[in-house]
Amino acid sequence: MEVDLNKIFNVSERYIENLSPLEQAVWWTQHRIFGSELTISHWTDEKVAPEFGRGDGSGYEILQQAAEYSLGARGVSVEIGVREGCGSKIMIEQFKKSEFPKLHIGIDPYGSIPYLYKDTEHVLNAYPNEMRDVAIPELYKLCAGSNVDFMFFQMTDEQFFKRFADGIPIYMNNTEYIINEYGCVYFDGPHTTKTTLNETKFFAPRASLNAMFIYDDVEEYYDHDVIESYLLDEDGTWAQIIRTNVKAVYHKIKVK
Ligand SMILES: C[S@@+](CC[C@H](N)C(=O)[O-])C[C@H]1O[C@@H](n2cnc3c(N)ncnc32)[C@H](O)[C@@H]1O
Repeated sequence: MEVDLNKIFNVSERYIENLSPLEQAVWWTQHRIFGSELTISHWTDEKVAPEFGRGDGSGYEILQQAAEYSLGARGVSVEIGVREGCGSKIMIEQFKKSEFPKLHIGIDPYGSIPYLYKDTEHVLNAYPNEMRDVAIPELYKLCAGSNVDFMFFQMTDEQFFKRFADGIPIYMNNTEYIINEYGCVYFDGPHTTKTTLNETKFFAPRASLNAMFIYDDVEEYYDHDVIESYLLDEDGTWAQIIRTNVKAVYHKIKVK
């Protein structure tokens, strides 16, 4: 039997008895995952053919400047949520100006898994593996032969934190290095307060002096004040550089 997902997702709990038993089962499965106060959407605009380097937001000049300022910081740079590679492309282009070798990593599960788009809205079928197939090879190519190395981790932020809390192994000059220090992090994966705070709590203690943290979609998606308070309450460790209605940037000015 065909299940009309749109019909199911748009029904509130009060009216689920109007659904067939199968539809009710699907409704309960979804709402157990997401919590019943949420809106569940489907995106169709993500179905256009992926294109390398195409962005989905604004304020990219802020990301560019922050990445450039982070050239003075030691450690790995990160984009959480790579999509079509726009953010990483901009960051890598800045890191190419460094006189030292740099490592930039991308963390993104793709796989069309449910996307935490806002605190109050989650999206199904959002970012497919076809997007990965277009963006990720281009990011490797962009770095080939330069001072910047790229590494892609196809996994969620949480999986990354579980597996690499003690550092990332990298291989160069006939040697294995374990690096657990970060110089620039662009937070643009799941957009809920809980996930963004969790990401901040992972990277903040591992950030080096002069590290830059850049957050996207700081208005309307999640409560960015929670993240800002966490950083700025840290005993003068972080300074805010800018906060617009799209992006916010913080600079690590002290290490404990
Ligand atoms: C808003 S888009 C990123 C846009 C991109 N940073 C840019 O500048 O063009 C969100 C990305 O986060 C990824 N994502 C979803 N859940 C994630 C998770 N738990 N951890 C890391 N990335 C996630 C999605 O696959 C998607 O590519």
